[in-house]
Amino acid sequence: MIKELVFATNNKHKTEEVGKLLLNEYKVLNLSDIGCTVDIPETGDTFEENAFLKSSYVVENYQLDCFADDSGLEIEALNNEPGIYSARYSGQKDDQVNLKLVLQKMEGLSNRKARFKTVISLIQEKKNYFFEGVINGYIRENPIGDQGFGYDPIFVPEGYEQSFAQMSMEQKNQISHRAIAMRKLIAFLKEQQPVL
Ligand code: IMP
Repeated sequence: MIKELVFATNNKHKTEEVGKLLLNEYKVLNLSDIGCTVDIPETGDTFEENAFLKSSYVVENYQLDCFADDSGLEIEALNNEPGIYSARYSGQKDDQVNLKLVLQKMEGLSNRKARFKTVISLIQEKKNYFFEGVINGYIRENPIGDQGFGYDPIFVPEGYEQSFAQMSMEQKNQISHRAIAMRKLIAFLKEQQPVL
């Protein structure tokens, strides 16, 4: 019988994408599939802690193996802010307002180096594993592009001219922090399967 694995997210699209990649290994379920409607508190100080809080919540309350991700933008000149506070940097969960705050804080700063980071926590048979994805780049002086979400319009990945918001979803998904971490997770999960 095919094993079940929970992705601690409410994002159906994300779950389907990973589910397709693991079609032969796991049935991937999201939070609503297991009837979990709790907004799992992310009270940690690091991406690792927050990802682990989410995955362990599911393991403890539903006795199912689970993975969870946590991501954010780290800007060198701002002491790696907004980091774990990326979704609510201004105090509001509003992408436009948060992006504006970043640009305001960076006014006049010449060091524009930044990186997006994702950490995935996988708890499988009570063991915890972390997978990390990082993409380096820089922060533009002004937003450009209308694709994506969050800080995409001001982030230009190293080696590219376009911001994340100017790239198609397919292009961003080839190179993003989230994609890098997910590829590591998927490779790990596939490797474990006995070859029949
Ligand atoms: P999450 O942990 O994936 O929900 O990401 C937390 C926050 O980090 C988001 O609400 C965004 O503000 C920011 N963020 C994470 N990944 C991206 C991305 O790929 N593009 C733009 N912003 C992102």
